Amino acid sequence: MESKRVAAEKAVEYIRDGMVVGLGTGSTAYWAIQKLGKKIKGGLSIKAVATSINSENLAKELGIPLISISEAEEMDITIDGADEVDNEWNLIKGGGGALLREKIVASFSKELIIVVDESKKVSRLGKYPLPVEIVKFGHELTQKKLGKLGCIPKLRVVDNNPFITDNGNYIIDCDFGSIDQPKDLHSVINMIPGVVDNGLFIKIATKVIVGYRDGSILEL
Ligand code: 5RP
Repeated sequence: MESKRVAAEKAVEYIRDGMVVGLGTGSTAYWAIQKLGKKIKGGLSIKAVATSINSENLAKELGIPLISISEAEEMDITIDGADEVDNEWNLIKGGGGALLREKIVASFSKELIIVVDESKKVSRLGKYPLPVEIVKFGHELTQKKLGKLGCIPKLRVVDNNPFITDNGNYIIDCDFGSIDQPKDLHSVINMIPGVVDNGLFIKIATKVIVGYRDGSILEL
């Protein structure tokens, strides 16, 4: 999709020789990885850390040199997508199920560039169901506890089976309709035993690039 591609490709312009780059996950990050692959063929020298097995496989296909997160002290820039971005740059992420690795990589990145199409910009988070990664043990009970926070929680299912994250966990998609206090909700959810992490990213983005259907971009 044009709007995703233009935003992602703009972000890649910030990558310089010698950088360690975090590779996000999803259909927008895909375009950033593709562009990075082309730049590497053209002589750019970087090392990359992937936030999912999908992005790792794509990077390998494109000849992008990869290192593990353990080998990287920190990332200079991470480029990743989002499911929603509010006016304070709080995010909902995890639509692709990679929220945990994405958050770990983002938290060790000097810069986190979020690339989105115009549909992802919202004045208030929560229309998009919030993904919460939970361990399998007691998942029905964890799901009930999440429901007590005022959402409709649904186990993510793919082809009639629970979706399994790269970390071997389940995802509960929590439909809050609207999230008034993202920071508080982030902490409350992560206090529930069985929860590994949730898809709220609170004020961690350092730049947001929005792509539009006509091919224009807005850098925030
Ligand atoms: C994956 C994510 C993605 O960044 C998010 O779902 C946006 O995906 P897309 O760029 O395909 O719209 O958080 O876990």
